[in-house]
Amino acid sequence: MREGKLWINLREAMNRDAVYKPLFEGLFAQLRRLNPGYRPISAYGGILISSPKAQVFYHADVSETLLLHVKGVKRFRIYPPHAPWLHEPSMEGLLHKEKTEDMPFDPAWDADAATMDLTPGSFVSWPLHAPHRVENVEGLNVSITCEVVTKASLMRNAVLHANGAMRRMGLKPRSTSTQGVQALAKLAFSKAWKAGMKIAGPRKPMPKSEDTFEVDLGADTGYRDRAAA
Ligand SMILES: [Fe+2]
Repeated sequence: MREGKLWINLREAMNRDAVYKPLFEGLFAQLRRLNPGYRPISAYGGILISSPKAQVFYHADVSETLLLHVKGVKRFRIYPPHAPWLHEPSMEGLLHKEKTEDMPFDPAWDADAATMDLTPGSFVSWPLHAPHRVENVEGLNVSITCEVVTKASLMRNAVLHANGAMRRMGLKPRSTSTQGVQALAKLAFSKAWKAGMKIAGPRKPMPKSEDTFEVDLGADTGYRDRAAA
């Protein structure tokens, strides 16, 4: 762990484990108290443990995210959530589970990024869908990630998901507005599409949840690819 390039995500540890759950609930109670009007619909918390030289490549997440840093130092770069840094079809593909979070990246974009080094006790959040990448700088890294669903993120994801579904039907949706009757119709359409896919669609895991490697502490990286094994 301290030598390789491992990145372990204990998903939902914060909202399921009996020891961490009260801390997680306390955190959100405090966030609600300090931010009147902040009403998350649901929140999930994971614990990230990663090697000193590990990194996370350029990607975007579907949820609102809050990262609280506990141990080590990591460099965080956040890019604007629109073209050329983020293209709507990429988010649509992600919401349709056809793509992983990884997306095309140009190193020149680092000049456009908000860059910060996180030390223990600091935290970071970013606009919904803003792409980001992370490089560990020093020591074994531990952070808590909170994935939050809000009314705004639910609506935005429903509109993009519906646009993606329409594109797959040969239509060309133009609006990504989350306001008005059209957005509400897209929310209903997105729900109907998901219900239809549940019954008739192909069963597919999220691309990222496939097992592609084995932990191997003898390897330089701490893992080896399954295909190459
Ligand atoms: Fe992320």
